[in-house]
Amino acid sequence: MTDTVATQPVDAPLTDAAIFLVLTVADDDSATGVVRDVLSGLDDLVKTVGFRDPRSRFSCTAAIGSRVWTRLTGKAQPAELHPFREIAGATHTAVATPGDLLFHIRADRQDLCFEFERLLLDALGAATSMTDEVFGFRYFDARDLLGFVDGTANPVGPDLPAATLVGEEDPAVAGGSYVVVQKYLHSLEAWEKLSTEQQEAVIGRRKIDNLELPDATTGQKSHKTLNTIEDDAGEHDILRDNMPFGSPGSGEFGTYFIGYTRHLWVLERMLERMFVGDPPGLHDRILDFSTPHTGTTFFAPSATLLADL
Ligand code: HEM
Repeated sequence: MTDTVATQPVDAPLTDAAIFLVLTVADDDSATGVVRDVLSGLDDLVKTVGFRDPRSRFSCTAAIGSRVWTRLTGKAQPAELHPFREIAGATHTAVATPGDLLFHIRADRQDLCFEFERLLLDALGAATSMTDEVFGFRYFDARDLLGFVDGTANPVGPDLPAATLVGEEDPAVAGGSYVVVQKYLHSLEAWEKLSTEQQEAVIGRRKIDNLELPDATTGQKSHKTLNTIEDDAGEHDILRDNMPFGSPGSGEFGTYFIGYTRHLWVLERMLERMFVGDPPGLHDRILDFSTPHTGTTFFAPSATLLADL
């Protein structure tokens, strides 16, 4: 089935700039029509902007939340799609926040992302309202603002579609992908009080050369180990394209987390292990320095499904 549908550019390479746009769709019928038109014409809008500098690797992935899925597509919900479920650990909570549409806009030039967002919002007009808008930037060698290289363990080659694209298990939406976003703000002052060795133990990799540290088998587990999901079928990966964002002038230092996955349960298991802990009580120490302010789940359908709307 996935061979016969065109997929969205979920696997686009890491770029120098990105905009994460979360919108809410108005509740009237005319809004449904406008949003459908814009989504089905997304490919043309991408060409309009991207062709102005083909070397800038411009792309946009659009995803739809469960509240408006059936209204916009006329189809049953993807099997695992539901609104983001809050996870309240003993110390930290993964909050759930609203949002009906996600546009993940990527390029090596911020101006192209900006121009695309401008044209997109013009076309949507009053059919949508702004819920969240974040401008992300590449920070040195793909580091997050905690100073660690972020994205290394992402699947590549044939593992990438296998980890991100729904297949025969849900034929009506094959070639699509579940997407979860969370906007984290860091307490850099507290983080910088840790020694480099302590920071490395939190993440599970060395800071300077990115080398992986051994997994702890008992006691406190690192971020890397808590996010390693294994069962009888082997290890289950997701694809992340996190971006730093912020404003030193207003003391805002953030990581915009975005994860694409074939099976929503895999990403939800990761969140549970981070916030509740494994064993429960031993949560991911990254959360002592990083607070999520949003949490929203979407489904990015195949490009074929979008064009047919
Ligand atoms: C404050 C937000 C976050 C930051 C700064 C962050 C940073 C990192 C870093 C530096 C690594 C190690 C290098 C790498 O493989 O990329 C990593 C690994 C990973 N993170 Fe995160 N992360 C964040 C949130 C999350 C969330 C919310 C999830 C999942 C729900 C997640 C899933 C993963 C996975 C799957 C890995 C790879 C584990 C492996 O080695 O197999 N991360 N993260």
